[in-house]
Amino acid sequence: MALFGKNKKDDSGAGAALAQELVLPKHVGIIMDGNGRWAKQRGLPRKAGHREGAQTFRTITRYCSQVGIRYLTVYAFSTENWKRPEDEVGALMGLFKSYLKEALEDFQDDDIVVRFIGDKSGFSPELQALMDENEESSKNRPGMVLNIAMNYGSRDEIVRAVKNICAKVEAGSLRAADVTEQLVADHLYTAGQPDPDLIIRPSGEYRISNFMLWQSAYTEFVIMNKLWPDFTKADLDEALRIYASRNRRYGGV
Ligand code: FPP
Repeated sequence: MALFGKNKKDDSGAGAALAQELVLPKHVGIIMDGNGRWAKQRGLPRKAGHREGAQTFRTITRYCSQVGIRYLTVYAFSTENWKRPEDEVGALMGLFKSYLKEALEDFQDDDIVVRFIGDKSGFSPELQALMDENEESSKNRPGMVLNIAMNYGSRDEIVRAVKNICAKVEAGSLRAADVTEQLVADHLYTAGQPDPDLIIRPSGEYRISNFMLWQSAYTEFVIMNKLWPDFTKADLDEALRIYASRNRRYGGV
């Protein structure tokens, strides 16, 4: 039996009709927070929260694609999450493995392109191979680009970009004077993608937690008082409505 049911929590979101009604963000980021608290509230182990969070991830990802979002970046595992107890990290790795095995077919109906951002080398060879396989098999799809941030930390991403740029300067293929904002952006995991217009953080925490620091210079933030496993399509609609009501000035007037 499939680990992840197709239509879990199929609450009624407004769906594609939203695109007629609202100015949609092109790129949405989501910090999937609150799995641990969700489990604790129910007297369950934290891994049960992650499992539930993974279901929500699947529902919301497909929904974003149906609404007409072009890029979605979800924060699944940070460079700091390795500090968690061994059994929780182990449970998350198990979840990623099961999910990635199914994901070869998952999202196919919605033509979703699956990409991973972060340092893959931190994962087991099996997991790395599954990540590569997912990227390879989905790369020519015409639909929404889904970036799954795993072993991702924005500071780590920026350091990596700086090192790569320095190496080019050392090799003589680039001059320091030619380093521009665009060049830095071109050395990030998200090279070639638009910056996120909207970042949603459920669970009521007001923190960026090392997520897309460079890319979020002018991103609109929406903090929602819902734990990630309880997050619904209607909550996404609400975040999109809040976003559409914002006046983006990018430092101008
Ligand atoms: C943060 O909540 C959540 C995580 C560190 C893990 C997120 C992972 C998933 C939702 C799994 C699904 C992902 C894929 C790609 C299958 P927390 O544990 O910090 O919650 P807390 O703040 O309530 O303790």
